[in-house]
Amino acid sequence: MTQAGGFRWQCPSNIALIKYWGKHGNQLPANPSLSITLDTAHTITTLAYKPGSGLRFLFEGKENPAFSSRIEKFLKSLSFEEMPFLKDFELKLESENSFPHSSGIASSASGMGALALCLVSMEEELGLLKGNFMQRASHIARLGSGSACRSVYGNMALWGKTESIPGSSDQYAVVVNDNVNPAFSKIKDSILIISKGKKPVSSTAGHALMDGHAYAESRFTHAKDNLAKLLNVIQTDDWTRFGQIVEQEALSLHAMMMSSATPYLLMEPNTIAVIRAIWEKRAKENWPLYFTLDAGPNVHLLYPESIEKEVEVYINEELVVYCENNYWISDKIGNGPLNLKYGY
Ligand code: DP6
Repeated sequence: MTQAGGFRWQCPSNIALIKYWGKHGNQLPANPSLSITLDTAHTITTLAYKPGSGLRFLFEGKENPAFSSRIEKFLKSLSFEEMPFLKDFELKLESENSFPHSSGIASSASGMGALALCLVSMEEELGLLKGNFMQRASHIARLGSGSACRSVYGNMALWGKTESIPGSSDQYAVVVNDNVNPAFSKIKDSILIISKGKKPVSSTAGHALMDGHAYAESRFTHAKDNLAKLLNVIQTDDWTRFGQIVEQEALSLHAMMMSSATPYLLMEPNTIAVIRAIWEKRAKENWPLYFTLDAGPNVHLLYPESIEKEVEVYINEELVVYCENNYWISDKIGNGPLNLKYGY
Protein backbone atom coordinates (compact mmCIF):
# COMPACT_ATOMS: atom_id res chain seq x y z
CA MET A 1 0.00 0.00 0.00
CA THR A 2 1.51 3.31 -1.11
CA GLN A 3 0.72 6.30 1.09
CA ALA A 4 1.49 8.89 -1.56
CA GLY A 5 0.73 8.86 -5.26
CA GLY A 6 -1.53 10.14 -7.95
CA PHE A 7 -3.87 9.40 -10.80
CA ARG A 8 -5.08 11.14 -13.93
CA TRP A 9 -8.38 10.40 -15.64
CA GLN A 10 -10.07 11.76 -18.71
CA CYS A 11 -13.86 11.57 -18.46
CA PRO A 12 -16.31 12.59 -21.18
CA SER A 13 -19.49 14.60 -20.88
CA ASN A 14 -22.83 13.03 -21.81
CA ILE A 15 -26.15 14.15 -23.22
CA ALA A 16 -29.36 12.60 -21.93
CA LEU A 17 -31.90 11.21 -24.39
CA ILE A 18 -34.33 10.44 -21.55
CA LYS A 19 -33.94 13.20 -18.98
CA TYR A 20 -33.25 13.02 -15.27
CA TRP A 21 -35.29 15.87 -13.79
CA GLY A 22 -36.32 15.64 -10.16
CA LYS A 23 -34.56 13.86 -7.31
CA HIS A 24 -35.05 12.74 -3.71
CA GLY A 25 -32.98 11.56 -0.75
CA ASN A 26 -29.25 11.61 -1.32
CA GLN A 27 -29.09 12.24 -5.05
CA LEU A 28 -31.57 9.54 -6.06
CA PRO A 29 -33.43 10.09 -9.33
CA ALA A 30 -37.20 10.53 -9.55
CA ASN A 31 -37.14 8.62 -12.86
CA PRO A 32 -34.60 6.59 -14.81
CA SER A 33 -32.57 8.30 -17.53
CA LEU A 34 -30.58 7.22 -20.58
CA SER A 35 -27.69 9.08 -22.22
CA ILE A 36 -25.05 8.88 -24.89
CA THR A 37 -21.52 9.46 -23.74
CA LEU A 38 -19.69 12.04 -25.83
CA ASP A 39 -16.30 11.71 -27.43
CA THR A 40 -14.65 15.12 -27.65
CA ALA A 41 -16.16 17.09 -24.76
CA HIS A 42 -14.29 15.90 -21.67
CA THR A 43 -12.53 16.86 -18.45
CA ILE A 44 -9.03 15.71 -17.47
CA THR A 45 -8.43 15.64 -13.72
CA THR A 46 -5.19 14.87 -11.90
CA LEU A 47 -5.20 13.90 -8.26
CA ALA A 48 -2.03 13.86 -6.15
CA TYR A 49 -2.20 12.68 -2.54
CA LYS A 50 0.09 12.34 0.44
CA PRO A 51 -0.47 11.90 4.20
CA GLY A 52 -1.80 15.07 5.81
CA SER A 53 -4.91 17.16 5.38
CA GLY A 54 -6.30 19.94 3.21
CA LEU A 55 -7.20 20.46 -0.43
CA ARG A 56 -5.78 22.54 -3.24
CA PHE A 57 -7.82 22.74 -6.43
CA LEU A 58 -6.64 24.31 -9.66
CA PHE A 59 -8.95 24.74 -12.66
CA GLU A 60 -7.08 25.28 -15.91
CA GLY A 61 -3.96 26.12 -13.96
CA LYS A 62 -5.61 28.75 -11.75
CA GLU A 63 -7.30 28.92 -8.37
CA ASN A 64 -11.07 28.92 -8.81
CA PRO A 65 -12.91 29.70 -5.56
CA ALA A 66 -16.39 28.77 -6.86
CA PHE A 67 -15.36 25.32 -8.13
CA SER A 68 -13.05 24.81 -5.13
CA SER A 69 -15.77 25.30 -2.57
CA ARG A 70 -18.14 22.88 -4.40
CA ILE A 71 -15.40 20.23 -4.50
CA GLU A 72 -14.35 20.83 -0.91
CA LYS A 73 -17.95 20.37 0.24
CA PHE A 74 -18.29 17.21 -1.84
CA LEU A 75 -15.05 15.68 -0.52
CA LYS A 76 -16.05 16.52 3.03
CA SER A 77 -19.40 14.79 2.57
CA LEU A 78 -17.63 11.70 1.16
CA SER A 79 -15.21 11.57 4.09
CA PHE A 80 -18.01 10.94 6.62
CA GLU A 81 -19.21 7.55 5.39
CA GLU A 82 -18.30 6.69 1.82
CA MET A 83 -14.57 7.39 1.87
CA PRO A 84 -13.36 7.99 5.45
CA PHE A 85 -9.73 7.52 4.34
CA LEU A 86 -9.91 10.97 2.71
CA LYS A 87 -9.54 12.53 6.17
CA ASP A 88 -5.93 11.26 6.37
CA PHE A 89 -4.65 12.81 3.14
CA GLU A 90 -3.63 16.11 1.67
CA LEU A 91 -5.06 16.33 -1.85
CA LYS A 92 -4.08 18.37 -4.86
CA LEU A 93 -6.51 18.39 -7.75
CA GLU A 94 -5.95 19.91 -11.17
CA SER A 95 -8.69 19.93 -13.74
CA GLU A 96 -9.11 21.11 -17.32
CA ASN A 97 -11.85 20.86 -19.92
CA SER A 98 -11.50 20.13 -23.64
CA PHE A 99 -14.19 22.72 -24.31
CA PRO A 100 -13.83 26.41 -23.48
CA HIS A 101 -15.01 27.40 -20.01
CA SER A 102 -18.32 29.30 -20.18
CA SER A 103 -19.08 27.81 -23.58
CA GLY A 104 -22.48 26.90 -22.25
CA ILE A 105 -21.49 23.23 -21.98
CA ALA A 106 -22.10 21.89 -18.50
CA SER A 107 -18.88 20.52 -17.07
CA SER A 108 -20.40 18.95 -13.96
CA ALA A 109 -20.93 15.51 -15.58
CA SER A 110 -17.40 15.22 -16.99
CA GLY A 111 -15.83 17.02 -14.02
CA MET A 112 -17.51 14.95 -11.31
CA GLY A 113 -16.95 11.82 -13.40
CA ALA A 114 -13.20 12.46 -13.69
CA LEU A 115 -12.94 13.31 -9.99
CA ALA A 116 -14.83 10.16 -8.97
CA LEU A 117 -12.56 8.00 -11.15
CA CYS A 118 -9.45 9.52 -9.49
CA LEU A 119 -10.89 8.98 -6.00
CA VAL A 120 -11.82 5.36 -6.70
CA SER A 121 -8.32 4.74 -8.17
CA MET A 122 -6.92 6.05 -4.89
CA GLU A 123 -9.29 3.85 -2.90
CA GLU A 124 -8.17 0.85 -4.96
CA GLU A 125 -4.48 1.73 -4.54
CA LEU A 126 -4.98 1.89 -0.76
CA GLY A 127 -6.48 -1.62 -0.86
CA LEU A 128 -9.90 -0.31 0.24
CA LEU A 129 -11.99 -0.88 -2.90
CA LYS A 130 -14.76 -3.40 -2.53
CA GLY A 131 -16.66 -4.54 -5.61
CA ASN A 132 -16.55 -3.40 -9.20
CA PHE A 133 -14.38 -0.35 -10.05
CA MET A 134 -16.67 1.35 -12.57
CA GLN A 135 -19.80 0.71 -10.54
CA ARG A 136 -18.15 2.32 -7.54
CA ALA A 137 -16.93 5.27 -9.67
CA SER A 138 -20.46 5.74 -11.02
CA HIS A 139 -21.86 5.67 -7.48
CA ILE A 140 -19.36 8.28 -6.25
CA ALA A 141 -19.89 10.45 -9.35
CA ARG A 142 -23.67 10.37 -8.74
CA LEU A 143 -23.17 11.82 -5.27
CA GLY A 144 -21.29 14.74 -6.89
CA SER A 145 -23.77 15.33 -9.71
CA GLY A 146 -26.53 12.97 -10.80
CA SER A 147 -25.86 13.05 -14.54
CA ALA A 148 -22.13 12.38 -13.91
CA CYS A 149 -22.84 8.76 -12.94
CA ARG A 150 -23.63 8.00 -16.60
CA SER A 151 -20.34 9.48 -17.88
CA VAL A 152 -18.09 6.68 -16.58
CA TYR A 153 -19.34 4.32 -19.30
CA GLY A 154 -18.91 4.55 -23.06
CA ASN A 155 -21.70 4.52 -25.66
CA MET A 156 -25.05 4.51 -23.86
CA ALA A 157 -25.63 4.46 -20.12
CA LEU A 158 -28.77 4.07 -18.06
CA TRP A 159 -29.25 5.34 -14.52
CA GLY A 160 -32.24 4.28 -12.44
CA LYS A 161 -33.99 1.04 -11.57
CA THR A 162 -35.65 -0.27 -14.72
CA GLU A 163 -37.47 -3.62 -14.87
CA SER A 164 -36.21 -4.61 -18.31
CA ILE A 165 -32.52 -3.90 -17.54
CA PRO A 166 -31.01 -6.42 -15.12
CA GLY A 167 -28.59 -4.86 -12.66
CA SER A 168 -29.96 -1.34 -13.14
CA SER A 169 -30.08 0.78 -10.01
CA ASP A 170 -30.89 4.21 -8.63
CA GLN A 171 -27.44 4.17 -6.96
CA TYR A 172 -25.28 3.99 -10.11
CA ALA A 173 -25.52 3.79 -13.87
CA VAL A 174 -25.04 0.72 -16.04
CA VAL A 175 -23.84 0.44 -19.61
CA VAL A 176 -26.45 -0.30 -22.30
CA ASN A 177 -24.78 -2.22 -25.09
CA ASP A 178 -26.75 -5.38 -25.56
CA ASN A 179 -28.77 -5.49 -28.72
CA VAL A 180 -28.14 -1.86 -29.72
CA ASN A 181 -28.72 -1.77 -33.48
CA PRO A 182 -25.69 -0.60 -35.55
CA ALA A 183 -27.94 2.25 -36.76
CA PHE A 184 -27.37 3.85 -33.32
CA SER A 185 -23.71 2.96 -32.83
CA LYS A 186 -22.38 6.05 -34.61
CA ILE A 187 -24.58 8.91 -33.46
CA LYS A 188 -23.23 12.38 -34.20
CA ASP A 189 -23.91 15.26 -31.79
CA SER A 190 -23.30 18.74 -33.18
CA ILE A 191 -23.68 21.17 -30.29
CA LEU A 192 -24.93 24.59 -31.36
CA ILE A 193 -23.88 27.12 -28.75
CA ILE A 194 -26.81 29.54 -28.72
CA SER A 195 -25.56 31.37 -25.65
CA LYS A 196 -22.42 31.07 -23.55
CA GLY A 197 -23.89 32.97 -20.63
CA LYS A 198 -24.43 31.57 -17.17
CA LYS A 199 -27.86 30.00 -16.73
CA PRO A 200 -30.33 32.07 -14.68
CA VAL A 201 -31.51 28.95 -12.79
CA SER A 202 -29.09 26.11 -11.94
CA SER A 203 -29.96 22.43 -12.48
CA THR A 204 -29.93 21.92 -8.73
CA ALA A 205 -32.57 24.62 -8.29
CA GLY A 206 -34.51 23.17 -11.24
CA HIS A 207 -34.59 19.69 -9.67
CA ALA A 208 -35.87 21.22 -6.45
CA LEU A 209 -38.73 22.87 -8.34
CA MET A 210 -40.00 19.39 -9.25
CA ASP A 211 -40.89 18.84 -5.57
CA GLY A 212 -44.61 19.55 -5.42
CA HIS A 213 -44.74 20.43 -9.14
CA ALA A 214 -48.32 20.05 -10.44
CA TYR A 215 -47.15 17.76 -13.26
CA ALA A 216 -44.40 15.91 -11.38
CA GLU A 217 -46.03 12.49 -11.17
CA SER A 218 -47.14 12.46 -14.78
CA ARG A 219 -43.70 13.65 -15.90
CA PHE A 220 -42.00 10.78 -14.03
CA THR A 221 -44.43 8.23 -15.51
CA HIS A 222 -43.99 9.74 -18.96
CA ALA A 223 -40.19 9.52 -18.69
CA LYS A 224 -40.45 5.85 -17.67
CA ASP A 225 -42.76 5.12 -20.63
CA ASN A 226 -40.47 6.98 -23.01
CA LEU A 227 -37.49 5.02 -21.68
CA ALA A 228 -39.26 1.70 -22.24
CA LYS A 229 -40.12 2.76 -25.80
CA LEU A 230 -36.62 4.04 -26.53
CA LEU A 231 -34.98 0.86 -25.23
CA ASN A 232 -37.02 -1.03 -27.83
CA VAL A 233 -36.37 1.47 -30.59
CA ILE A 234 -32.56 1.31 -30.23
CA GLN A 235 -32.75 -2.39 -31.03
CA THR A 236 -34.18 -1.46 -34.43
CA ASP A 237 -32.95 0.96 -37.10
CA ASP A 238 -35.93 3.29 -36.66
CA TRP A 239 -34.47 6.80 -36.47
CA THR A 240 -37.95 8.33 -36.89
CA ARG A 241 -39.26 6.79 -33.65
CA PHE A 242 -35.93 7.53 -31.96
CA GLY A 243 -36.18 11.19 -32.91
CA GLN A 244 -39.84 11.53 -31.88
CA ILE A 245 -39.10 10.26 -28.39
CA VAL A 246 -35.89 12.25 -27.96
CA GLU A 247 -37.44 15.56 -29.08
CA GLN A 248 -40.47 14.98 -26.88
CA GLU A 249 -38.18 14.38 -23.89
CA ALA A 250 -36.27 17.61 -24.54
CA LEU A 251 -39.42 19.72 -24.81
CA SER A 252 -41.05 17.97 -21.86
CA LEU A 253 -38.00 18.90 -19.71
CA HIS A 254 -38.40 22.56 -20.68
CA ALA A 255 -42.18 22.36 -20.21
CA MET A 256 -41.49 21.41 -16.58
CA MET A 257 -39.41 24.56 -16.14
CA MET A 258 -42.09 26.73 -17.74
CA SER A 259 -44.83 25.29 -15.54
CA SER A 260 -43.01 25.21 -12.18
CA ALA A 261 -44.23 27.21 -9.16
CA THR A 262 -41.65 29.84 -10.10
CA PRO A 263 -41.74 29.53 -13.88
CA TYR A 264 -38.62 30.14 -15.88
CA LEU A 265 -37.34 29.83 -19.44
CA LEU A 266 -33.93 28.53 -20.44
CA MET A 267 -34.64 28.49 -24.17
CA GLU A 268 -33.63 31.64 -26.03
CA PRO A 269 -35.34 33.00 -29.17
CA ASN A 270 -32.53 31.42 -31.21
CA THR A 271 -33.12 28.02 -29.58
CA ILE A 272 -36.65 28.12 -30.97
CA ALA A 273 -35.50 29.45 -34.34
CA VAL A 274 -33.10 26.48 -34.64
CA ILE A 275 -35.79 23.96 -33.63
CA ARG A 276 -38.13 25.35 -36.30
CA ALA A 277 -35.35 25.35 -38.88
CA ILE A 278 -34.57 21.68 -38.11
CA TRP A 279 -38.22 20.69 -38.43
CA GLU A 280 -38.45 22.44 -41.80
CA LYS A 281 -35.20 20.93 -43.06
CA ARG A 282 -36.26 17.48 -41.99
CA ALA A 283 -39.56 17.76 -43.80
CA LYS A 284 -37.80 19.02 -46.94
CA GLU A 285 -34.82 16.65 -47.10
CA ASN A 286 -36.24 13.68 -45.22
CA TRP A 287 -33.00 13.51 -43.19
CA PRO A 288 -32.90 11.65 -39.84
CA LEU A 289 -31.93 14.90 -38.12
CA TYR A 290 -33.29 15.52 -34.61
CA PHE A 291 -32.50 17.71 -31.61
CA THR A 292 -32.25 17.47 -27.88
CA LEU A 293 -31.66 20.13 -25.23
CA ASP A 294 -30.11 20.01 -21.80
CA ALA A 295 -31.02 22.44 -19.04
CA GLY A 296 -29.93 25.44 -21.09
CA PRO A 297 -30.42 27.22 -24.43
CA ASN A 298 -27.97 25.19 -26.54
CA VAL A 299 -29.19 22.73 -29.15
CA HIS A 300 -27.71 19.26 -29.63
CA LEU A 301 -28.27 18.03 -33.19
CA LEU A 302 -28.41 14.24 -33.32
CA TYR A 303 -28.07 12.28 -36.57
CA PRO A 304 -26.29 9.23 -37.97
CA GLU A 305 -22.68 9.59 -39.09
CA SER A 306 -23.74 8.56 -42.60
CA ILE A 307 -25.18 12.07 -43.25
CA GLU A 308 -22.38 13.96 -41.44
CA LYS A 309 -21.07 15.81 -44.52
CA GLU A 310 -24.40 17.25 -45.65
CA VAL A 311 -25.44 18.16 -42.09
CA GLU A 312 -22.16 20.03 -41.48
CA VAL A 313 -22.64 22.03 -44.69
CA TYR A 314 -26.20 22.78 -43.55
CA ILE A 315 -25.01 23.92 -40.09
CA ASN A 316 -22.35 26.19 -41.58
CA GLU A 317 -24.68 27.66 -44.19
CA GLU A 318 -27.92 27.97 -42.25
CA LEU A 319 -27.59 27.41 -38.52
CA VAL A 320 -24.38 29.14 -37.38
CA VAL A 321 -26.16 32.49 -37.67
CA TYR A 322 -28.15 31.48 -34.57
CA CYS A 323 -25.01 30.58 -32.57
CA GLU A 324 -23.16 33.01 -30.32
CA ASN A 325 -20.03 34.05 -32.26
CA ASN A 326 -20.93 31.37 -34.86
CA TYR A 327 -19.68 28.78 -32.40
CA TRP A 328 -20.61 25.11 -32.52
CA ILE A 329 -18.87 21.92 -31.42
CA SER A 330 -18.67 18.74 -33.46
CA ASP A 331 -19.01 15.70 -31.23
CA LYS A 332 -20.29 12.13 -31.38
CA ILE A 333 -20.94 9.06 -29.29
CA GLY A 334 -17.72 7.97 -27.58
CA ASN A 335 -16.00 5.12 -25.79
CA GLY A 336 -15.93 6.47 -22.25
CA PRO A 337 -13.18 7.47 -19.81
CA LEU A 338 -9.44 6.99 -20.22
CA ASN A 339 -6.99 6.25 -17.43
CA LEU A 340 -4.06 8.50 -18.38
CA LYS A 341 -0.54 8.11 -17.11
CA TYR A 342 0.16 10.14 -13.99
CA GLY A 343 3.45 11.96 -13.65
CA TYR A 344 4.13 12.77 -17.31
C1 DP6 B 1 -31.30 18.35 -17.73
O1 DP6 B 1 -26.89 16.16 -13.06
O2 DP6 B 1 -26.64 18.62 -13.47
O3 DP6 B 1 -29.06 17.61 -17.88
O4 DP6 B 1 -27.61 16.10 -9.75
O5 DP6 B 1 -28.12 18.48 -9.21
O6 DP6 B 1 -25.91 17.87 -10.23
P1 DP6 B 1 -27.40 17.56 -10.12
O7 DP6 B 1 -28.04 17.81 -11.55
P2 DP6 B 1 -27.50 17.51 -12.98
O8 DP6 B 1 -28.88 17.52 -13.80
C2 DP6 B 1 -28.88 17.22 -15.16
C3 DP6 B 1 -30.18 17.46 -15.75
C4 DP6 B 1 -30.28 17.34 -17.25
C5 DP6 B 1 -30.81 15.96 -17.66
C6 DP6 B 1 -29.85 14.80 -17.60
O9 DP6 B 1 -28.63 14.96 -17.76
O10 DP6 B 1 -30.37 13.68 -17.43
